[in-house]
Amino acid sequence: MDLMDAIKGRRTIRKYRPDAVPEEALRNVLEAVRWAPSWANTQCWELIVVKDPKVKSELATTLPKGNPAIPSITEAPLTLVLCGKKGISGYYKGQVTTEKGDWLMFDAGLATQNLSLAAHALGLGTVIVGMMDHRKAGGILGVPQDIEVVAMIPLGYPATSGSAPKRKEISEFVSYDGFGRRAQ
Ligand SMILES: Cc1cc2nc3c(=O)[nH]c(=O)nc-3n(C[C@H](O)[C@H](O)[C@H](O)COP(=O)(O)O)c2cc1C
Repeated sequence: MDLMDAIKGRRTIRKYRPDAVPEEALRNVLEAVRWAPSWANTQCWELIVVKDPKVKSELATTLPKGNPAIPSITEAPLTLVLCGKKGISGYYKGQVTTEKGDWLMFDAGLATQNLSLAAHALGLGTVIVGMMDHRKAGGILGVPQDIEVVAMIPLGYPATSGSAPKRKEISEFVSYDGFGRRAQ
């Protein structure tokens, strides 16, 4: 699949078919995470593959009422839980190096985009779920204190195809030679 086609064609998928994700496809998706860029190649990510319907049901309770992805957590054959190890991305010899503090979220975002695009290229759908009780999810999965849960990503074959929500025009977010200097 052409890269721009993959970037533009990937959609958030909230409804899934029950078909299992083949091991090889999962392996490819995980390989895409493996090759994501990260701060000084620190690769702070940890990923938990949740297949057990009971665990998925528990995880679904960590989403607030009204989150449209609640059914996706249990409906998708797999839910991937992306975590990050604290205190390494953005750090040098244990000291934070920029005013941004921990770059864990940034690196986790890059890994997530690789994951979502690779899944899409394989005909699989994903939804990135950020709105949840992260601490509760960590408790359910036994995630240790020095690692935090960042996002849950249901993965499976799409049952529906959504249309793309509207994007800003390039001219609305790009400046030239200084902030706010839009193209003429
Ligand atoms: C960091 C992040 C958190 C998100 N959290 C949720 C969520 O909790 N529930 C949900 O249904 N969608 C969630 N989404 C999906 C977005 O709503 C979706 O990506 C956006 O509307 C653009 O649609 P598209 O992915 O089809 O291009 C999240 C996306 C991102 C990047």
